[in-house]
Amino acid sequence: MLFENIAASEDALYLHSTKLQSEFYTGLFTEQVQKWQDDPNQVAKSARNFKIFYNAPFFPMRPDLQKFKRINWERAVLQRRSQRHFDSRPILFSQLSTLLLLCTGLKKNGKWLKLPPPDPLGHVDMGQLQSCNRALPSGGALYPLELYLLVRRVKGLSPGLYHVNVLFQALSQLVRHDQPMPLAGTIAQDVLFGEPAVVLFVTAVFERTRVKYGARGLRYIMLEAGGLGTQMNLLANAMGLSFCYDGGGYEDRIESLLGIDGEREGLISQLMLGHSKE
Ligand SMILES: Cc1cc2nc3c(=O)[nH]c(=O)nc-3n(C[C@H](O)[C@H](O)[C@H](O)COP(=O)(O)O)c2cc1C
Repeated sequence: MLFENIAASEDALYLHSTKLQSEFYTGLFTEQVQKWQDDPNQVAKSARNFKIFYNAPFFPMRPDLQKFKRINWERAVLQRRSQRHFDSRPILFSQLSTLLLLCTGLKKNGKWLKLPPPDPLGHVDMGQLQSCNRALPSGGALYPLELYLLVRRVKGLSPGLYHVNVLFQALSQLVRHDQPMPLAGTIAQDVLFGEPAVVLFVTAVFERTRVKYGARGLRYIMLEAGGLGTQMNLLANAMGLSFCYDGGGYEDRIESLLGIDGEREGLISQLMLGHSKE
């Protein structure tokens, strides 16, 4: 049988050893967390927990938030579904931008915060990041997640691999593709999913959370990735787009596609976005 040793599997070991009352954490955890929180250098450093690809071409997002003013949230929850069998209809860059802003955007005093891109000397005014937060909550405000997009069919954006730059509300183009990249060999259920317009790869830079919470931080990272997917599912459906989580990606292959090592930064999950007739 596939999971014969299920009672003794590694996840049980992990859950056991990262319990708050486990030997490892007893006494240490609260003290350590408090010490960390009292250190202004640590707090300032974690406000900068995002990657910036300075040498990649930037594409500013073009969100269109008008539609959301009229959404009936009860109906949105009732109608939320996971949809597969995507067809090849493109989505709009404005739809993608709206979703990304509402799931990753920086906020300050109840408004979106968008920093101007670096000046010719590469300088960015990071001072503005003080007391800002983001669209989604994050354990200890450490923001371990990064988001990459495999753009396959988006009107207004060339196919390719992009990274979401939360600071400048922009997409950094890491690789440009002439054609939408086929999914075969990247995810296990490529036939089931068909032709999603965009595949979003959620990764985590583990150390960002580990510095404060140790191994227990992985619990928070997974929660955050789940929160991101759920928010996106709800918003995408409310905008008339189809969405599905995908738990079956070939991690090593995707990590090498994204240029990450899988240890310092690793893949957590994929999210499928596009149009489906389901
Ligand atoms: C963490 C997670 C992983 C999932 N992975 C997959 C997947 O690999 N393939 C798939 O077809 N659906 C996947 N789903 C979607 C679930 O199958 C779906 O949420 C469930 O069947 C309930 O249907 P509903 O979302 O339409 O209410 C996943 C959902 C979650 C939350």
